[in-house]
Amino acid sequence: MKVLVTGGLGFIGSHTVVELLNNNYEVVVVDNLYNSSIDVVDKIKIITGRDFKLYQEDVCNKEKIDEIFNMEKPDAVIHFAAYKAVGESVNKPIMYYRNNLVSTLNLCEAMQKYNCKKIVFSSSATVYGNPDVLPITEECRVGGTTNPYGSTKLMNEMILKDFTIANDDFCAVILRYFNPIGAHESGLIGEKPNGIPNNLMPYIVRVASKELKELSVFGNDYPTHDGTGVRDYIHVVDLAKGHLKALEYNNRGIDYFNLGTGIGYSVLDMINTFERVNKVKVPYKIVDRRPGDIAECYADPTKALKVLGWKAELGIEDMMRDSYNFILKQKGN
Ligand code: WQD
Repeated sequence: MKVLVTGGLGFIGSHTVVELLNNNYEVVVVDNLYNSSIDVVDKIKIITGRDFKLYQEDVCNKEKIDEIFNMEKPDAVIHFAAYKAVGESVNKPIMYYRNNLVSTLNLCEAMQKYNCKKIVFSSSATVYGNPDVLPITEECRVGGTTNPYGSTKLMNEMILKDFTIANDDFCAVILRYFNPIGAHESGLIGEKPNGIPNNLMPYIVRVASKELKELSVFGNDYPTHDGTGVRDYIHVVDLAKGHLKALEYNNRGIDYFNLGTGIGYSVLDMINTFERVNKVKVPYKIVDRRPGDIAECYADPTKALKVLGWKAELGIEDMMRDSYNFILKQKGN
């Protein structure tokens, strides 16, 4: 089976390409390197010992996408390519709406024209906004997104839903990620955000490796067990494997799955676990809450196990070890 992977050199995309190649899929990557680097190609080949084709193109370029589909005739698409910085999306909404929506529209039109019937879409737990109930199931209310990034994910889900209604032989699997962290055990690929990291784990690893001075903990007055924000962190390799299960899922129409562990950890839990596992200090200070943050968010992952036969296998200590191993390898340790 030939799978076209948009954003396949990115954090989650590259780990998914590794799993696809390891499972004998034929892979074609479309990536414009906006949030990834060309050296990831060789690292994927080193990890898997296999080759794949790369088109260094923008999924928003309709003509190029048509050319690629015409040449490759993929059997399925996994669509990762999107801007994903929550804070940036608040300051640059039009850039986010244009990029994250036009890319999906181009893919739908190309899939229809070239008879490609399946898409797996990279969505996010942010579509639930501030959850009314916990843990979150796929039946929970969506909407009330607190930033344009989250709104583009919700709008893409709506686009794909309407597209499956209009094309009853087309199927879409929506994967709602919780908080992806960690890295491949080789330390060759991992999360390498450009500039100062927005997310917790990339920040922690840079403080631990003394690249940054200290972590700011955004608020300790939330209604949680220790006052700091609670999230459902999932190992990126577990998340990648979830995409293969979604490809194998023989569904009609559209279906949705929460990909999380079902366990919530607070910011202080993360700091303490990281220090214990990696035997390194992470200096931090408590500061004000970050606008738009919610107190607590974690998944009920039952449906993914029941329907896809998928559940997260790696635990928080694996995530801490692999995250730090990646940054040390990047520094040549
Ligand atoms: C986690 C916790 C912060 C940084 C976002 C997106 C989501 C997904 C993952 C793309 C919160 C606290 C963080 C820091 C801190 N992205 N924190 N100091 O906001 O849960 O989710 O990233 O798919 O869609 O919404 O992740 O890692 O930014 O924050 O105290 O320097 O860590 O307040 O409680 P978040 P995060």
